[in-house]
Amino acid sequence: MTELLQKFDVVIIGAGAAGLMCAAKAAARGRQVLVVDHANKAGKKILMSGGGRCNFTNYFVAADKYLSHNPHFCKSALKRYSQWDFIALVEANGIAYHEKKDGQLFCDNKASDILNMLLDECATAGAVIRLRTDVADIQQTGNDDYRYQLSAGGEVLQCQSLVIATGGPSIPTLGATGFGYDIARQFGLKVYPARAGLVPFTLTDRNKALSEALSGTALAVDVSCGGMSFLDDMLFTHRGLSGPAMLQISSYWQQGDELLINLLPAEDCASLLRQVAHERPKLLLRTWLAELTTNKFAERWLDGHALAAATLAQLSGAEMDAIAEGLHQWRVKPAGTEGYRTAEVALGGVDTDELSSKTMEAKQAPGLFFIGEVVDVTGHLGGFNFQWAWASAVAAAEFV
Ligand code: FDA
Repeated sequence: MTELLQKFDVVIIGAGAAGLMCAAKAAARGRQVLVVDHANKAGKKILMSGGGRCNFTNYFVAADKYLSHNPHFCKSALKRYSQWDFIALVEANGIAYHEKKDGQLFCDNKASDILNMLLDECATAGAVIRLRTDVADIQQTGNDDYRYQLSAGGEVLQCQSLVIATGGPSIPTLGATGFGYDIARQFGLKVYPARAGLVPFTLTDRNKALSEALSGTALAVDVSCGGMSFLDDMLFTHRGLSGPAMLQISSYWQQGDELLINLLPAEDCASLLRQVAHERPKLLLRTWLAELTTNKFAERWLDGHALAAATLAQLSGAEMDAIAEGLHQWRVKPAGTEGYRTAEVALGGVDTDELSSKTMEAKQAPGLFFIGEVVDVTGHLGGFNFQWAWASAVAAAEFV
């Protein structure tokens, strides 16, 4: 059987956040664009994101909200297509949104508002999207008009520019793969090993029993590791520790590292214990802690503690200091993370030194572009990853 040969100005592999944005913008420039994706639906991660409401950007986008072996690489694209540009697009499409906290912007209605907006932009500009299409056998042609040839869903495609927007391997059940890394390696680009980021921790030591018992309890904590710290909520789970504070610090955590968790960052427990002991000497230590946290937490935290049933008046200064230190400096050594099964992102990816920060084009492979999560740029929780997807996509779209 003879395979059909089709020619396009631009072929984009991956109909996710970055791929759809790039397709819409490149097609709006008059480029003939085809997007291919092996999934049965475009933008599955967009639909899942932000608890179904898509935290699509953040008021406070800045380079220090991103992890990368080159922390400067993301600056150019983020500056040229900023959060304000994306907010303007959202507003022009009549999508209602709100700030949840810390500049995080969510849809009032559903994440599908954002996906439909991108699909509409693609349709209006004339970009074609083909789903359920597996890609194989990508080669350079040596011809400057159509520099790449690939097999996709039984057809042979040729294109002048090939854009890799296949994201990272987190949540494989959504169609996520490490395919983009394989393509990068095929063309001689360096790829930093990927690992799960923005992911809950698992525990196996004695803290696992505590987490299990407290499953569902949330506390506002300050967690530090790897030279970073985050003040946000922590959630005890059956498997370990989750919640935004833990997801954030997980991107800075390496296997074997210890987390230092301040369970009561808003208090100075050593002083507070002395003050309350003076004012309410008969107050039980357990009740004091329950008033600051929850009954369940106080009960479990002090379970088996020699002073669990003591009144504050019965505590020595040294005992108060020890209790305060335990609460302010809880040391936890996670066994690991939940991995790609639940991770919001993959850290690592295509080395930014291999790409132009202006165009996202591979320096050694003209016409080959990498955008979005496949690149070694990973945002904090809070809409920063989508903003990188939009910005890197627009940067490439101007040059494909
Ligand atoms: P994305 O993953 O969006 O798209 C990649 C596309 O490539 C997919 O459609 C996939 O099917 C396709 N593909 C992969 N391999 C392929 C292959 N071999 N052949 C063909 N196609 C292939 N970020 C944020 O800023 N705010 C938020 O609220 C959230 N929330 C959130 C929740 C959850 C549960 C997850 C998993 C992630 C988030 N994120 C997030 C992160 C955000 O979803 C992510 O950073 C972006 O989707 C990355 O966009 P990309 O376009 O690079 O990849």
